[in-house]
Amino acid sequence: MVFNMKLGGKIKRNINRVHEKDISLTNTIIKDLVFPNEYCVYTSDGILLYQTDCIDFMDRLIKQYPDGIFDMIFADPPYFLSNGGITCVSGKMVKVDKGDWDKSRGVDKNHIFNLEWLSRCQRLLKPTGSIWVSGTHHVIYSVGFAMQQLGFKILNDITWEKPNPPPNLSCRYFTHSTETIIWAAKNEKSRHKFNYDLVRKMNNNKQMKTVWTIYPPSNDEKRYGKHPTQKPLKLLERIILSSTDMEDLVFDPFSGSSTTGIAAIKYKRYFIGCEMSDEYIRLSRKRFDGFLNEARNTPLLFKEDL
Ligand SMILES: C[S@@+](CC[C@H](N)C(=O)[O-])C[C@H]1O[C@@H](n2cnc3c(N)ncnc32)[C@H](O)[C@@H]1O
Repeated sequence: MVFNMKLGGKIKRNINRVHEKDISLTNTIIKDLVFPNEYCVYTSDGILLYQTDCIDFMDRLIKQYPDGIFDMIFADPPYFLSNGGITCVSGKMVKVDKGDWDKSRGVDKNHIFNLEWLSRCQRLLKPTGSIWVSGTHHVIYSVGFAMQQLGFKILNDITWEKPNPPPNLSCRYFTHSTETIIWAAKNEKSRHKFNYDLVRKMNNNKQMKTVWTIYPPSNDEKRYGKHPTQKPLKLLERIILSSTDMEDLVFDPFSGSSTTGIAAIKYKRYFIGCEMSDEYIRLSRKRFDGFLNEARNTPLLFKEDL
């Protein structure tokens, strides 16, 4: 059956839905949780990927799980930076245009959007759960302010430093070379999970600092296709290992190429993702199939030991 509907008047979908019996098989693995399956476009080995608007999806989940179901949420929302600026790609000057989804709607509307999706994420987090949100200066101050307004407990702000940023062609600014990732718990009372010993071990038995130097995704990570804001697997692996346990349920409302999903299943967590675009759903499906094929031939890929 072809899933083809308009949402928000803009997005056309032409992606095949997955068969109900395959969904119920994956759902059994994910402890019989019930999701709005009519949007499901990929399922396998503890992964459920939905093609829909994440706000609509979360509204439906909240009705079923008012006390929360997710152990961890990673969100990489639109940055609102595709507004006619210029950047440097492979030594060439190009316009910043990551897609319509990344265009600014104006400061106030952008902030309302951030409040809308963050408030739903907060409802869907378990009391022990936590959320990580990444962004550049175009969006991260609004995200941080929205989190304060909603009563999240901010735990850390991570600076992700990219060692090889493109040069700043205008020569009127410093070269942009970082992104911020805010880590927060559901509210002031909640007790979040932090795998302190493992994180320390990952950092040569020293406490890990909040500046993380990690290269952007390699060509190998992009071998199934490109997403303009794809996150490096290493970044998501660190996030998942530090704040979740095996068999925890991880959610990504803006899944893109599903980097979060790959990192989650690599370490035996379950993954639920939402993405609106046909192109990135196709890319995610290729990535999942590729990873699962490889993992089946290389069981060590599923080891938590780093
Ligand atoms: C910044 S990218 C995420 C990239 C991802 N972290 C990765 O590693 O590939 C944001 C993604 O959210 C999608 N998106 C934007 N608005 C959305 C919405 N309301 N619901 C679901 N997906 C949305 C876009 O199509 C885009 O792929």
